[in-house]
Amino acid sequence: MKTLSIETELSKVTADVLVVGVPEHPENVEGWAAFADSFSSRILDWVRAGDIKTGFKEIVKMPSLSEQSYKRVLFVGLGAPKDLTEEKLRQAFAAVGKELLVSKYENVAIWTAPFTTEELTCADVAYAATEGIGLGTYKFEGYRTDSNEKDFSIESLQFISSYDEDELKAAFAVGQAYASAVNEARNLVNMPPNLLTPTKLAEYAEELAAKYDFEIETLGKKEMEELGMGAILAVNKGSVEEPRLIVLKYTATEKWEDVVGLVGKGVTYDTGGYSLKPRESMVGMKGDMGGAAAVLGAMAIIGELRPARNVIAVIGATDNMISGEAFKPDDVITSLSGKTIEVLNTDAEGRLVLADAVTYAKQSGANYLIDVATLTGGVIVALGNDKTGALTNNEAFFEEFMEASLETGEFVWRLPLTENDKKRIRKSDVADLNNSPGRDGHMIFGGGFVGEFVGETPWVHLDIAGTSDASAPHDLGPKGATGVMVRTLATLIERMAEKDSE
Ligand code: BES
Ligand code: ZN
Ligand code: ZN
Repeated sequence: MKTLSIETELSKVTADVLVVGVPEHPENVEGWAAFADSFSSRILDWVRAGDIKTGFKEIVKMPSLSEQSYKRVLFVGLGAPKDLTEEKLRQAFAAVGKELLVSKYENVAIWTAPFTTEELTCADVAYAATEGIGLGTYKFEGYRTDSNEKDFSIESLQFISSYDEDELKAAFAVGQAYASAVNEARNLVNMPPNLLTPTKLAEYAEELAAKYDFEIETLGKKEMEELGMGAILAVNKGSVEEPRLIVLKYTATEKWEDVVGLVGKGVTYDTGGYSLKPRESMVGMKGDMGGAAAVLGAMAIIGELRPARNVIAVIGATDNMISGEAFKPDDVITSLSGKTIEVLNTDAEGRLVLADAVTYAKQSGANYLIDVATLTGGVIVALGNDKTGALTNNEAFFEEFMEASLETGEFVWRLPLTENDKKRIRKSDVADLNNSPGRDGHMIFGGGFVGEFVGETPWVHLDIAGTSDASAPHDLGPKGATGVMVRTLATLIERMAEKDSE
């Protein structure tokens, strides 16, 4: 969305399309009579007859009937106002966005009043509209040579509202920052693995750092060898592509303290290694860097909105390949932390990458840790494809995290991590840990393994294997990468910063 303008009266609209919310009993909406006068006095009859629908997210498109300054109206049903929430608004506007994308309407006006309720202000509507439309209009351009469609993007957005202009502008800026960061993360996950190598991912992070003035450090194979990062190096051994450990620092306060560490799994392709994946489950493993994308997306929002909280992002990037050099089951490796690991399964590579990345984040001063990873098929068996699985070692930090996830509407469910689980992760005849204790409840073993490197630092583990990629269109976007957790991570940092300033 390139430009924003604000008008206080419907007669001032200039747009391809005017978006109008239709709650049950629209006649209660302030200004509805004036709108009906200007559009058609029969509009309430159409609502009553069901030609304009009030059901949540139901869309009806209608051309302007006379000389209006907008060419058409897009009516979107909202249901009962008392049931409306910010998340439902976001979904309604994402549905509008999908329609705009299909119809290619570039100049869009939104009349905010019908979307407001006792709880939701015009500024809330402006935020949900910007974010929802931004997410709903997302499309991965891809590499087709026969496509003559020009890239679609919304040229101008106009709010029709008499609310405080500065607040509307701020809501637009925040919505815009959130939506574009999620869409960037989606692009990274949708990119093919021959084009998005660890080196390319690091280059992308460098662009972010330059844009937002982050400190950046990227470690290559040689630096990793010098430091003794035996876990990520083991995963990389079979590859001709060099690994990268990508470190971004956002310094918001004078001292480097109270640092939140965001750690992402950046496996740019996961063949499974010698514990090879069956051919059907290998397809799609280009998305095994979804955790890295979530962390980079969150950093983009942090760079835009600059909350007063120090953040370090650490991404372990490598692919997991096969060759005469590759690591294999039965290998014993030494991680950066010094802990030794017996490899029982080379397909349980994400936890190895994260082990060194988490250790590095701790060594760099992280006082809180969140790791995000497409870690296990187990989380999909346990929770399905619409819930992110979580583990934690700290009730208070987890509660804070959950408040952020409730705000963004990204569903997260916690699983237990018991002493018995830890015992099984620590069971090995030859090393401190093993990387694959079994398939029973193995989401817990995956995350629990990462926990072995966290120690006492408050920590949340997020397994997004089910939620990072959608097999069909969903509420907030199309099939493919979802950009899950970008919004929740950024919201958590914003909330932590706000709490500090209280
Ligand atoms: N990258 C996969 C997990 C995954 C599965 C992501 C499906 C997205 C969709 C991970 O590295 C993996 O292979 N995990 C194994 C662990 C097992 C060997 C203990 C799994 O879940 O089967
Ligand atoms: Zn794997
Ligand atoms: Zn993997």
